[in-house]
Amino acid sequence: VGPDVIDIRKLYGQTGKFTYDPGFLSTASCNSTITYIDGDKGELLYRGYPIEQLAEQCDYLDTCYLLLYGDLPNGDQRGTFHKRVLNHTMVNEQMQFFLRGFRRDAHPMAVMTGLVGALSAFYHDSTDINNPEHREIAAIRLIAKMPTLVAMAYKYSVGQPYMYPRNELSYAGNFMRMMFATPCEDYKVNPVIERALDRIFILHADHEQNASTSTVRLCGSSGTNPFAAIAAGVACLWGPSHGGANEACLNMLEEIQAMGGVAKVGEFMEQVKDKNSGVKLMGFGHRVYKNYDPRAKLMRETCHEVLNELGLHDDPLFKLAMSLEKIALEDDYFVARKLYPNVDFYSGIVQRAIGIPVQLFTAIFALARTVGWIAQLNEMIADPEYKIGRPRQLFVGAATRNVKPLNER
Ligand code: ACO
Repeated sequence: VGPDVIDIRKLYGQTGKFTYDPGFLSTASCNSTITYIDGDKGELLYRGYPIEQLAEQCDYLDTCYLLLYGDLPNGDQRGTFHKRVLNHTMVNEQMQFFLRGFRRDAHPMAVMTGLVGALSAFYHDSTDINNPEHREIAAIRLIAKMPTLVAMAYKYSVGQPYMYPRNELSYAGNFMRMMFATPCEDYKVNPVIERALDRIFILHADHEQNASTSTVRLCGSSGTNPFAAIAAGVACLWGPSHGGANEACLNMLEEIQAMGGVAKVGEFMEQVKDKNSGVKLMGFGHRVYKNYDPRAKLMRETCHEVLNELGLHDDPLFKLAMSLEKIALEDDYFVARKLYPNVDFYSGIVQRAIGIPVQLFTAIFALARTVGWIAQLNEMIADPEYKIGRPRQLFVGAATRNVKPLNER
C-alpha cells in the first residue's frame, strides 16, 4: 500500500502534490550508494560487500575506510588510514572538566550527547560542513575519539581514573584497555574478545536511512557543523525503538530470568501477544527486515565464541534468548507479522559477558555507527541536488480566527 497522494491545491490553493506518509514507510529521502538491505532475503551489503564477508575477513577500520571512501583499502591505504585514526584518539584535556559537570549516575547516552556536541567547541578547524577538508578531518576525529569518550564516560561513572589511549593497540584493543585497565596493574587484551568487539563494531557501522541516520542528514542539511549533526544522531539512537533496544532487551531477559527463566517464557509470550499489555519482545522486529536480520545471525555466532572463551557456555540469559527465539519463530503471531530477531537481540548478551555494563550498550552502538553517520552526511553534502530537509504537514488545526480580549476568553 503506497502513501496517500494529497492534492494540495485543495488545501492551500497552490499547485503541485505531496505525499502523506507518517513514519516514512514508503518515502525514499535520498539516493545512496553506501548500504543496501534486501529485507525479504535478509541481506545486508556495505558498498556491495556482504556483511558476512566483511565480518569474517576485514576489521572495523577497514570497514570505516570502505564506508567513507567507497572501496576497501589496499595495503598502503590501510596502513595510512589506521595510523591516521589512531593518531587522533586523544581528546582535548578540557573535555575532562566538561565531563565532571555531569552527575556520576547520569545515563551514558545523556553524557555522550553532550560530549559529542561539545567537540565542536574544541576543534574549530573542522566545523565547516561545506568544506571537504573540514569534513575529512572531522570524520577522522570522530571515529578516533568516540572510543575514548565512551571509555571516559564509563570510568567517570565508576569513579576510576581515565586511561589514556595507547596507539600501538588495535582500535578495539585500545577501547578494551581504556575501559577495563587501571593504573594499578598490567592489562592484556584477550584476542578472542578483541575480535568479537571489532565484529560488533562492523555489524553496527551503517544501516542506510534508519531513524538516527535520517536525523543526522536532516540536522546536517541546515549547514550545521559535523559534530553537532553526529550528536543529533546519538540522541536519536538512544530511544528503545532504535539503538536503545539492546539495553531494553537485556533488561527484558533479566526480568524474565527473575520471574523463573525458561519455564516462564510461554507466560511472557502471552503478554507480548496481548496488544493491551504494551509489552514487546525487545530485539525482535524491524521496519525493513521481514526475514532474519543477517547481523543477528552473526551476533549469535559471536555470542557462542565469547561465552566459550570465557567459560560461560551455560549462561542462563543466552539459553533464555535462544528459547524465546525458538518459540517466537514457530508462533503464528510472529510468523504472520514476519518478526525475527534483529541485531539487538544477542548483542547485549555478548557485551554483558565482556564486562560492559548494560547502560553502556547504546553508547557502544553510537561509537560504531559514527562512521555510517559521517559517510551518509558526506554523501548528502556532496550531492549537487542537496537541499535543506523540510518535510511538509497536513494541517488539521483551527481555521483563521481573531484573538479575543482577555475578559472575553
Ligand atoms: N514484539 C511484539 N510485537 C511486535 C514487535 C515486537 N518486538 N515488533 C512489531 N510488533 C508487531 C506490532 O505490534 C504490529 O502488530 P499489528 O500489525 O497487529 O499492529 C506489527 O508487529 C508491525 O509492527 P510495527 O510496529 O508496525 O512495525 P514498525 O516497522 O513500525 O516497527 C520496530 C519496527 C520499531 C523495530 C518494532 O518491530 C519494535 O518496536 N521492535 C522492538 C524494539 C527493537 O527491537 N528495536 C530495534 C530495531 S533494530 C535497530 O534499530 C538497531
